[in-house]
This record gives sequence, C-alpha cells and structure tokens, in this order.
Amino acid sequence: MTHDIPAAPAFGDALPVSPAPGVLAFLARRRSASALSLGARGPSDEELADLLTLAARVPDHGKLAPWRFIVLRGEDKAAFAARLEVLAADHADGPKLVAKLGKLKTPPLGVAVVSRTVDGEIPAWEQLLSAGAVCTTLLYAATAMGYGANWITDWYAYDPQARAALGLDEGEQVAGFVFMGTTAEPPQERVRPDAAALTTVWKD
Ligand SMILES: Cc1cc2nc3c(=O)[nH]c(=O)nc-3n(C[C@H](O)[C@H](O)[C@H](O)COP(=O)(O)O)c2cc1C
Repeated sequence: MTHDIPAAPAFGDALPVSPAPGVLAFLARRRSASALSLGARGPSDEELADLLTLAARVPDHGKLAPWRFIVLRGEDKAAFAARLEVLAADHADGPKLVAKLGKLKTPPLGVAVVSRTVDGEIPAWEQLLSAGAVCTTLLYAATAMGYGANWITDWYAYDPQARAALGLDEGEQVAGFVFMGTTAEPPQERVRPDAAALTTVWKD
C-alpha cells in the first residue's frame, strides 16, 4: 500500500504552522487495538521505514536521540518468543508469563523502542520522556496508516535475562514494544478521563 507521506524536509526548511483538521479528527477518535487481535498483514518494510522516520521526529531536548529501535518480525520474532518461553519456565508463575507472550507472538510486527540516556546536561527524566514520545508517535503513525497498534511493556521488558536476549546494553531500557498488524475487530471506546477535572489554572 502506498501512503501519501511528504518527503522529510531538509535542514533549515521553513515549516509553516498551519491547521491540520485531519489530525484533530484522528486524535478525537483513535484507539489502540488489542495486540491479540493483530494479524497479517503488518506494515511492509517500506512502510516501517516511514513509520520509524515519523516516530523519530519527536521533541528531543538537546538533540540526543536518546532511543533506538529493535524490529521484531517473522521467524526471528518467533525465536525471541521461544527464548522467552524457556526463561518463563524457570519462574514460579511460568504459565502466566507464557500466556502473556501471546501479545508478542500474535502480531506480525513489533518494534521495541529502547531508551538509552546519556550523561550530561539534559536530565535523564527528559530523555525518558522523549522515548515515551517516540512510542506514542509510532503508535499513532501506525494507526494513521490503517494498522491496529498497541504499546506493551510486560514482564519481558524488565526481566534481566529477557533484556539480554533482546540485546539491550547496560543502562538501556525498553520504553515500549509497539505491535502492529491488521485488526478485523474495530476497537471499542474505553473509559476516558475528564480532562477538565484534572485541570487547574495557576493563579498568583
Ligand atoms: C507504558 C505503557 C505500558 C503498557 N503496557 C501494557 C502491557 O504490558 N499490557 C497491555 O495489555 N497493555 C499495556 N499498555 C497498553 C494500555 O494498557 C492500553 O492498550 C492503552 O492504554 C489503550 O489506550 P488507547 O486506546 O487510548 O491507546 C501499556 C501502555 C503504556 C503507555
């Protein structure tokens, strides 16, 4: 499928701020899809390259790009899941951990967004927030492309052996696995917070 994504601007190009009603309409109604509902087809290699380019356009204090991507798909994703199954077998609640792997095994494509903070002037907290923004943008971009998508962490984002199996270096953290695919079931609206009830206006 081709998507009408404009070419990335060149450094220094003027990028006028203009209304984007389509984006507002998308934000008003978008939903994550259950990872267990995601089947073939997933984004193609070309589409994935576009999605990652879009996801990397997030606010990033200090221009550090304090994150990276690990693509999980096909036989290699199945092999990663099989390694996790072996690790899960060593845990007391192994069957529960194995059951959770369905969200990794079912979708055709996953991307681990890996946060890697660097020491320096920019607080680590801000670098982690930027990694979260990458996850959100990837989730939204995949949805805008017409794919169901879900942001998952789960036990294998935290388990030391699972992290090693994924190939994380010391100091790296999984900000999220963003799974993508085609969903036959339209997600239903969930309970939403009342933004007004969460808002105060600071007064002197
Ligand atoms: C940091 C983070 C971690 C999440 N981890 C999980 C998870 O482990 N398992 C899960 O089923 N959903 C997980 N979710 C997804 C949410 O539970 C749920 O899909 C999402 O909030 C749906 O909201 P939406 O439809 O507004 O996108 C996670 C979401 C976030 C932001």
